Amino acid sequence: MNSVTTGILRSLSRAGGFVSGEELCREFSITRSAVWKHVGLLREEGYRIEAVTGRGYRLAGLCGRPLEAEVGMFLNTGRIGKYYFYHPEASSTNTLARSLAQEGGPEGSLIVADSQSGGRGRMGRNWHSPPGVNLYFSFILRPGVPSFRVPQLTLLVAAAIHRALHSHVPGIQPKVKWPNDILVGGRKVCGVLCEMQSEPDLTHFVIVGVGINVNQSVFSLELRHLATSLVKESGSSVSRAHLLADVLNHFEPLYDEWLVRDDLSFIIPYLDEHSFLNARDVTVDQFKQSIRGRVSGLAPGGELMLLGTDGRRILVSSGEAHIRKEPT
Ligand code: BTN
Repeated sequence: MNSVTTGILRSLSRAGGFVSGEELCREFSITRSAVWKHVGLLREEGYRIEAVTGRGYRLAGLCGRPLEAEVGMFLNTGRIGKYYFYHPEASSTNTLARSLAQEGGPEGSLIVADSQSGGRGRMGRNWHSPPGVNLYFSFILRPGVPSFRVPQLTLLVAAAIHRALHSHVPGIQPKVKWPNDILVGGRKVCGVLCEMQSEPDLTHFVIVGVGINVNQSVFSLELRHLATSLVKESGSSVSRAHLLADVLNHFEPLYDEWLVRDDLSFIIPYLDEHSFLNARDVTVDQFKQSIRGRVSGLAPGGELMLLGTDGRRILVSSGEAHIRKEPT
């Protein structure tokens, strides 16, 4: 969908009522028949647009899918999300984004799917991705930083998602669970999966993959105690397109700041304030060992700071944290 089609949808949505064909011709420097063609494209995508002689066009209904035109109505970024690829069904948006990046796809390219047949989570897990309800998207970054800094991006994305949820979904209290989850009421609503291609001194690209349980109202028995959704927690359905745009709108300025800084110190107070783990006794499972301690916050590099059983300070840079019932 090209930028004129998206622009027409944005104009109709902002107007709230009728916009004359003449105004649209002027705004986009196109002919009347071109306006008609773009309106036709929007209708094919599922937008309800009334056309009344003498009055013009009116947006009477959105299509409710995170299509480029609808996300574009809310997107204020300079580059993240500017190249937009939508798939009604994909294997995994991370896999598609990786192929695109390997072919030279620019920073900010965004792949969105309505459903995934092979959605991937951390630690080789599946990411359940049913159609019509949730957000599954991945975007390409080319940050040009040494690879040791890349894991910080996961927390940066989590901060952006947290801000978007905070402003977008009233009545919920999302928490960031280091390093990549957003929880509401102790259950997971969102996961972030960052994958990179790099050499030690140079990151070729990073794929940021995000799954958000938005309007899913039913979860399998297996997931019910672990996962939840925004609609379940807030009681109201949420526009996937608007939320996706908000996440990217919050992410881009954080990313720009991060690129000129050495670490995450500028966002650590925010992450600490909204941390699920702060002051909790945890076990962090790593590949070959488990580390126990009480969480005292996040270090500037994004590591989890623990106070060990022997009073020693421990910095944990990766792993999966579990809250322990009995104290350390
Ligand atoms: C996790 O919490 O384990 C991370 C989950 C990440 C899931 C998203 S959905 C969009 C993107 N495509 C994938 O295959 N995975 C990520």
